[in-house]
Amino acid sequence: MTSTLLTGIGELVSFAGSDLPDVIEQAALLIDGSTVAWVGRALDAPDADEQVDLGGRTVIPGFVDSHSHLVFAGDRAAEFAARMAGEPYAAGGIRTTVAATRAATDEQLTAHVARLVQEMRRQGTTTVEIKSGYGLTTRDEARSLAIARQFTEETTFLGAHVVPDGDPAAYVDLVTGPMLDAAAPYARWIDVFCETGAFDADQARTVLAAGAARGLLPRLHANQLGHGPGVKLAAELGLHAVDHCTYLDDSDVDALRDSGTIATLLPGVEFSTRQPYPDARRLLDAGVLVALASDCNPGSSFTSSLPFCIALAVREMGMTPLEALRAATVTGAAALGRADIGTLAPGQRADLVVVDAPSHVHVAYRPGVPLIAQTWVAGRQ
Ligand code: NIG
Ligand code: FE
Repeated sequence: MTSTLLTGIGELVSFAGSDLPDVIEQAALLIDGSTVAWVGRALDAPDADEQVDLGGRTVIPGFVDSHSHLVFAGDRAAEFAARMAGEPYAAGGIRTTVAATRAATDEQLTAHVARLVQEMRRQGTTTVEIKSGYGLTTRDEARSLAIARQFTEETTFLGAHVVPDGDPAAYVDLVTGPMLDAAAPYARWIDVFCETGAFDADQARTVLAAGAARGLLPRLHANQLGHGPGVKLAAELGLHAVDHCTYLDDSDVDALRDSGTIATLLPGVEFSTRQPYPDARRLLDAGVLVALASDCNPGSSFTSSLPFCIALAVREMGMTPLEALRAATVTGAAALGRADIGTLAPGQRADLVVVDAPSHVHVAYRPGVPLIAQTWVAGRQ
């Protein structure tokens, strides 16, 4: 196995905890095969087969995008334009994308996911979770997940996105029966959109229990469009994470703190729907763990960029640049139940990003600027 020493690192963000500081200046990092073998001050660096001089640039862990909906066809640019002219966001737009997705071939869907994953890589994302949810038939949910599986192990069955047509109770039976049977082999997670106009708390409980009985790990979309029961349900069930968390009352915040469930905030949604941003500061000050993800989808958040989401979180949601980076790396990894990614410490998968800037602050400070110079996944650029 070849070892590579990255040296000339002006600033390295490790998030390794215990003995290593979060931010190390004048640093070096040794990669051995696919893992990080050593991290520390350049003066103390061990020998290696190869050296790469990064010329004073910043190294951070690769971004972990723990929430995206990349398997779809078409776009909803007209809906976005109408929204910017004053129309409100409505979850019913999902059905427009469902129709386009059902009509697309496997090859078209696969090529589209590949393109979006490539966009993400260029912007520093090294792990992405991908949901189904725009098929909403047994065949289309299963093929969406089979396609997602070609790009990531973090796949999520979201048959319970909206009721496509007909009787909601019959649709829940389908989702928890034949659709789950067809989807489960390709999915690690199961998710429900728990919101007025989608699925209520009882339906969400039923769907998550059916998934759990098949070995799928439960997660939820909740409290996106208004106050509701989803966040408390997530806390009660002890989920790894509950996503959106835009409308929270004090008892929701208490429930998240007490359960340790991560609040995954998706500021691309509030940017694109013109809703109020979730209050990350309130959550952090209450002791709730906060993750950031893109929610990349054609309706509510058509961005693949975690640097953009980090900039929004810092500017609009009261996070410091370091807190936002933590939320998009190590806490995103925790939201996926992963301890092998999201930090730069010996033994971790060597997933890292070289930022063409003298400090990590620039990721938020220079929004819209392509600062991601290199993305390394499992030790390979
Ligand atoms: O996470 N909230 C539900 N689902 C997506 C939006 C889907 C769409 O509008 O197409 C979300 O925001
Ligand atoms: Fe989503």
